[in-house]
Amino acid sequence: MSLLSSFLQSLGCLLLVISAQFLWTYIRSPIRNIPGPFFAKFTHLWRFFDVYAGRPELTQQILHEKYGYAVRLGPNVVSISDPKLLRTMYNTRGDFLKSKFYTVNDTKVGSQIIHNVFSTLSNEWHSAALRPIQKFYKMSSLLAQEPLINHTIEAFCKRLDEEFVNTGKTCKMDEWMLFFAWDVIGQLTFRRPMGFMDEGRDHSGLLSTADKALDYFAAIGQIPELDHWLAKNPIRPIGPPSFDSAAIFCAQQIAERQQAGEKSSGQPDMLDGFLEIKRATPEVMDDNAIVGALLVNILAGADTTAILLRAIVYYTLKNPRVYKKLQEELGNANLSQPVTYAAASALPYLDAVVRESARVHPGVGLLLERIVPASGLTLSDGTIVPPGTIVGMNGWVIHQDKQIFGQDAASFNPDRWLRDVASGETEEEFQPRLAMMKAADLTFGAGNRICLGKNISILETYKVIATLFLNYDMSFVDPQMKWKVQNSWFVRQSGIDINIRKRRSLRD
Ligand code: HEM
Repeated sequence: MSLLSSFLQSLGCLLLVISAQFLWTYIRSPIRNIPGPFFAKFTHLWRFFDVYAGRPELTQQILHEKYGYAVRLGPNVVSISDPKLLRTMYNTRGDFLKSKFYTVNDTKVGSQIIHNVFSTLSNEWHSAALRPIQKFYKMSSLLAQEPLINHTIEAFCKRLDEEFVNTGKTCKMDEWMLFFAWDVIGQLTFRRPMGFMDEGRDHSGLLSTADKALDYFAAIGQIPELDHWLAKNPIRPIGPPSFDSAAIFCAQQIAERQQAGEKSSGQPDMLDGFLEIKRATPEVMDDNAIVGALLVNILAGADTTAILLRAIVYYTLKNPRVYKKLQEELGNANLSQPVTYAAASALPYLDAVVRESARVHPGVGLLLERIVPASGLTLSDGTIVPPGTIVGMNGWVIHQDKQIFGQDAASFNPDRWLRDVASGETEEEFQPRLAMMKAADLTFGAGNRICLGKNISILETYKVIATLFLNYDMSFVDPQMKWKVQNSWFVRQSGIDINIRKRRSLRD
């Protein structure tokens, strides 16, 4: 027998074994009756390639449109879009634990794996890590930091004036929103901006590293076992940069602050707070825990907020009626500068625009994966999803539910968040409708693993959007232009080129 034919025979045998294994997995699967793409039933490669292609949130919208409330996205993965199950899957007890997807977000320093509050799968670890730091993320604590955000907003307006208003150059608002959001996080965490607005570019390469790390997280997270052999390879890490460089940056900040001795003067920041906990109770917080806590601010705090800010600007500029109404509300509100959170959050139309932007373009665009506990999960048609199955909801799918958000759920319409007086909607009708929409809002997740930094984003978003629309007239360079979107867990947008001028009333 020639070498070639024995090679072909061996290959044939291998393919037969692999096919038999796929078939066996399929036949034995307790969720084989849940519909979904053919190949997804056999292999996780289907969802890997779907995420790799960059728009999995659209695929999932289409699949749920076709198949209904439950869609199989992998041999043991089911995407759920039934809002009635939201509080079951994401409850405050944390009965449904996070899946291994999140472990890809762990960092490896030397041979040590460092978990963080986002990546840990353990409820116990999570509670212990969250307990000492939670207070820093409450709105009451953050409001004490409002002067730091004011400072960053003033710097933002100054830089917009210098770079674009005074020169007439095109503003790449997608980039500047990111620079702003990073500088806010830098202020709140390390009491200094990260320097992106000053430089007007990704001066340290941190932004592109974060992008690549997220591309890796999203795709490899579909087959998380691969991470052990790639970024966390025990012999030699392979592939794109992991989150390690950000961890090293955080470790440097700790070292610098400790070298500087006692708390330096000025507004205390989060790092001061974390170091204080370490000093008082070293058994509760060591240096690794501080790195982990700083890291989530850096990795989760800027991109997400920038995505929301971009969505607000983009959809408002695309809808002249909304734009006009927003500017009228701001113009009539007798606001101080930069606009205070108290004043901005009391403006109903601004609130509606923010909520609607987050609804149509949630910052996170993959399943918030959870493991079905021993009790199983009963779907509305009576199907029982067995323990151990990975289930998850995606805000991009839930937010399109017509029964919750109305027949025009696919359109951008901030008015849905307000009482429809013209159609005779009474306050008694409006309040339950509003409560129903809020209950199905997955923008910041839900349950015991709800977003830790929600208040940071809300605080800076209301303030900066109010200040921006109060001070500037903005228009697209090309009114027909559509932004580009890439879903790597965070659903990032680019290509928002705008002209920006001082508002006419402010110029006169
Ligand atoms: C508009 C801005 C933001 C959006 C849309 C957003 C979205 C989310 C979502 C959907 C989750 C849930 C993930 C899951 O269940 O799998 C989450 C969790 C988390 N977010 Fe945010 N986030 C935002 C801003 C922030 C900020 C500013 C920070 C920190 C400074 C932050 C830190 C975190 C952390 C630590 C978690 C994990 C919480 C846990 O597992 O207990 N986020 N975020």
